[in-house]
Formats: sequence, C-alpha cells, structure tokens
Amino acid sequence: MNIGIYPGSFDPITYGHLDIIARSSKLFDKLIVAVLTNPRKNALFTVDERIEMIRESVKDFDNIEIESFSGLLVDFARMKKAKAIIKGLRAVSDFEYELQMALMNSKLDNEIETIFIMTSSKYSFLSSSIVKEVSSFGGCVAGLVPPIVEERLRQKFNMK
Ligand code: PNS
Repeated sequence: MNIGIYPGSFDPITYGHLDIIARSSKLFDKLIVAVLTNPRKNALFTVDERIEMIRESVKDFDNIEIESFSGLLVDFARMKKAKAIIKGLRAVSDFEYELQMALMNSKLDNEIETIFIMTSSKYSFLSSSIVKEVSSFGGCVAGLVPPIVEERLRQKFNMK
C-alpha cells in the first residue's frame, strides 16, 4: 500500500490545505493528515478541535486518515510505513524553509521522500495565521475555510 503523510499544524484547516489534501489523496492509496501536537506553539484550537474540523472537512474522501503526532515527523512517517511527506508550496517565500526541512528530513531518513505540490493560485495568499487575524477582528473568511471552521472561529472570538 502506498501511503503518504500530509503534516501540519492545521490551526485551523483552510481551503488551501484542502486543495493539497484533495490533490494528493489521488496519488496515494492512503493519505494520513498528521496534526502536530506542539506545546511550544501558541495554538488557537486544541488538537482535538483541529482534528474535528479536519474530519468534518474531509468526510467525502474515503482514503484519508487523521492522526496527531509529536516528536520527529520522520519517526512518525516510518511508524506509519509512509513513503512520502507531502508539502504545499504557496510562493517562493515558502521555499527556503521547506527546502531546509526537506533536506533535514532526508538526512534523518533518506527512505522517505518529500513531495511538493503547488497550491492553487486562488489560495496562494492564504494561511491559517491570516485567517485567524482577519477573523479575530470580525472580518469575513467565507470561501477561505470550510463552514465548520467559520463557525468555530466565530465561537472562539465570541461573534455572531
Ligand atoms: O503547518 P506547519 O506549522 O507549517 O507544519 C510544520 C510541520 C508540522 C510540518 C513541522 O513543524 C514538523 O515537521 N514538525 C515535526 C518536528 C520535526 O520533525 N522537525 C524536524 C523537521 S526538519
């Protein structure tokens, strides 16, 4: 079985992430969406909340699993018998950091390949951080995140 891993913080999931998930799910028998549990990062949503929003957003796919992980991504990938790590690239500005991570991951385990997928241009400006910022000031994020995320953001920021 060909297994791919799509890792991230997903705080929260956006349509940019979902674009990468939809396209990479066609390349693998199974795609694992791996949510990083990182106590050092100041997350808005708990891991359980993030997983719930992802689960709702990918319910129409039949080859996607959602899991949380901590520690090294390559260790988790090896444990899951994944062949590849999937990363989305939005712009040149993503490249340097992603290259560094891909090279370090391949140094740690050269059996696991990193595959980059270019985010669709309509989502190339989108990030979880910008969605949280706009939402925190009452801005509209419809069309940028799934409806469940819109709803959860409204609840977090106590808006109608
Ligand atoms: O959505 P993000 O926050 O950009 O995702 C970053 C993520 C989870 C892919 C990255 O932080 C990661 O892989 N963390 C796990 C720890 C690890 O393996 N670090 C070494 C990578 S070089």
